[in-house]
Amino acid sequence: MDVIIYGSTDTGLRIYNAIKESMNVISFLDDDSSKWGKSIDGIRIQNPKSIQDMEYDEVYIGVLTYHMEVLKNLLEMGVQRNKINELYVNIPTFARIECLRNIRSIIDEELLTGNVAELGVFRGEFAREINMIFPDRTLYLFDTFEGFSEKDVSVEIEKNYTKQDKSGYFANTSEEYVMSLMAYPEKCVIKKGFFPDSTLGVEDTFCFVNIDADLYAPTIAGLNYFYPRMVVGGIILVHDFFSLTFHGVRDAVKEFCFAKKCTFMPIGDTLSVGIRKTE
Ligand SMILES: C[S@@+](CC[C@H](N)C(=O)[O-])C[C@H]1O[C@@H](n2cnc3c(N)ncnc32)[C@H](O)[C@@H]1O
Repeated sequence: MDVIIYGSTDTGLRIYNAIKESMNVISFLDDDSSKWGKSIDGIRIQNPKSIQDMEYDEVYIGVLTYHMEVLKNLLEMGVQRNKINELYVNIPTFARIECLRNIRSIIDEELLTGNVAELGVFRGEFAREINMIFPDRTLYLFDTFEGFSEKDVSVEIEKNYTKQDKSGYFANTSEEYVMSLMAYPEKCVIKKGFFPDSTLGVEDTFCFVNIDADLYAPTIAGLNYFYPRMVVGGIILVHDFFSLTFHGVRDAVKEFCFAKKCTFMPIGDTLSVGIRKTE
């Protein structure tokens, strides 16, 4: 079977490693023009538009955060719906939501108090699930809503996690858009701005927090801020620990857990780990 993978970083590479023995991967597609013409294992990375000139059996969606945009783009380019394979993006998404439901049941069984938060909201895909699953808790939404800050990106470059200036990545969002997705908007508190500065004035405790800020500096700042404010038994999820692109998240979690003598565990969504406050 001849297949194309749309996405040539994290999820795309995971798909490639999972299917390369059983399928013939003929091309990677990527919206990032700086990658066009490069190759992975001898397979060319191309402009998504070139799909229109290709013969193939299936195209795998290989990006998580921009999954819906990629799907729309493929359909607009005339790719037949039954040739689009979303398995590898649906499984991690469902697994993370299922994990969140399980966390909620633990919180209920143990009668944990505290509110909930997300650091790194972007377009609110996961925040919407948190709001839905915790309708009785205040949900703090921390984001610049203007993408990565130069300050965090310069730490990333200094620490050799990347050579690319990714300032402003994920700027394509707004507080209004995120709020429009929420089932219980009255329970949401937008904390717009650079984290941790944006925590000023927040006096609260938490039973669940999702940290999904991609970079070393906000991840370690998030752990340092939230962990002491978690109720005992409260759970922090950190996305991108297993990322093949954002290497700083793993270091931040390991450094933090080593210093605080706490442990982390994979949650089965391919990318996140969970940390539970035990004392
Ligand atoms: C991958 S996106 C989050 C995806 C989101 N959780 C979802 O469900 O789709 C990462 C977000 O972290 C935010 N971010 C990174 N560093 C930050 C900081 N220091 N302060 C505030 N927001 C930050 C970015 O603006 C970006 O929107």
